[in-house]
Amino acid sequence: MRLFGNRNRNEKEIDDKDKGITNSLGIDLGTLNTVIAKPSGDKFDLYQIPSVVAVKKDDPTQVLAVGEEAKLMLGRTPEDIIALRPLRKGVIESIVQAQALLERAMETGTKEGETIGRIVIGIPGDSSEVEKKAAEEIGEKAGAKYVLVISEGLSAAIGAGLPIAEPDGTMVIDIGAGSTDLVVISLGGITDIETVRFGGDDIDNNIVSLVKEKYNVEIGIHDAESAKIKVGMFHCSEDIENLSTEIIGKSSETNKPKKISIDSQFIADAAEPIIKEIVDGLNIVLERLSPELITGVYNNTVAVGGSSQLRGLKERICDELSVPVTISDDPMTVVAKGAAIVAAEPRALEPEVRLKAMK
Ligand SMILES: Nc1ncnc2c1ncn2[C@@H]1O[C@H](COP(=O)(O)OP(=O)(O)OP(=O)(O)O)[C@@H](O)[C@H]1O
Ligand SMILES: [Mg+2]
Repeated sequence: MRLFGNRNRNEKEIDDKDKGITNSLGIDLGTLNTVIAKPSGDKFDLYQIPSVVAVKKDDPTQVLAVGEEAKLMLGRTPEDIIALRPLRKGVIESIVQAQALLERAMETGTKEGETIGRIVIGIPGDSSEVEKKAAEEIGEKAGAKYVLVISEGLSAAIGAGLPIAEPDGTMVIDIGAGSTDLVVISLGGITDIETVRFGGDDIDNNIVSLVKEKYNVEIGIHDAESAKIKVGMFHCSEDIENLSTEIIGKSSETNKPKKISIDSQFIADAAEPIIKEIVDGLNIVLERLSPELITGVYNNTVAVGGSSQLRGLKERICDELSVPVTISDDPMTVVAKGAAIVAAEPRALEPEVRLKAMK
C-alpha cells in the first residue's frame, strides 16, 4: 500500500518540527485557482486567488504581479510583460513563479504580524519525487517552517469527510482545470492512483476549436469557459435540459464581430474526448481494484474539482462503469480543507495512528 506525504518522517522528527508551531495552512496549488484554508476552530477561513503571475518578457524570473492583478493582464499585457500560469496540467512549470504564487497564498491566509509554521500543499497524485521536492522547496523558500506535500486526491477525501480510515475503500475523482486525479483510498492510505492529464481547460480549448470549425468564428478562451459553466454538460443516457447561450466572436471571413448561439449539446461534443479519457482512466482503476475494495468504492465515490460540476457527470460515469457517484457540494475547496486538516494535525497521517483510530 502506498502511503502519502513524507513517508520517512518519524514521530520524533514531527515532534521536533512541531515545537513552536501554532499556525498552519492548507493550500491547493491548482492549475487555475489556488485555494487557501486556514483552520479556525472547527471551521476554516477560505481564500482563493487565481494561479496567475505577470512577469517580464525578457526575464520571466522577475515577477511583477500575482493573482487577481496578474489575471486581468492575461491576453492584455503590454509587449514587455506576459501573464502566465506557474502550473501546467497540475505540475509546477516554473519554481520562481510558483514560489511567488505560494508567497501570495501565504500572505492571503495570514494576518499582519502572524507567521505560518506549517503548510500542507496538495499536488497531483502521480507527481514524481522531483516534482514533490519542487513543491517542498517553494514552500520553504516562501517562508514556511515545515512543508508537507500530499496527494490532492487524498486531501480531497479528507476534506470531503470520506471514511478514509476504513478498510472498505473509497474513491475520489478530482476533475480540475488541467488534470483529473482518480484515487482509491483504504485504511487511510492510497491504494491506487491514476492521473489523467485532461480537465476543464481542455474542454475550453475544444470549444474554441469546434466553434472555429463549425461557424468560422474565433472566440476567446474566457468566453468559451463562461459558456461551458452556463450551459455545459457531458453526454449521458439521461435527458438533461438543453440550454443555450450567445457568444460574440470574430468572423474569420469578415473580421467583424459575429454573434453565435451554442447549446449544451455543442459543449457536450467538445467535452466528449475529455470524458472519454476520464472513463478510460476509471476503467484502468477498476481493472486493478481488488474485490475487497469494490463495495467501498461502490458506496463511497465522490467527485470533486471545478469540472465535476458539469451536468451529466454522475449519470455518464454510472452509464459506463455502474459506479454511483456523489458530486461534492463543495467541489473547489475540499482539497485545501483536507490539507488544512492535515496541517493542523500531521500525525493523523502516520500509519500507526490510523490503525489505532480503527480499533
Ligand atoms: N460550474 C461549473 N461548471 C463546469 N465547470 C466549472 C464550473 N466552475 C468551474 N469550472 C471549471 O473547473 C475548473 C477549475 O477547477 P479547479 O479549481 O478544481 O481546478 P484546479 O484545482 O485549479 O486545477 P488542477 O486540479 O487541474 O490543477 C476550470 O476548468 C473551470 O472552468
Ligand atoms: Mg485541483
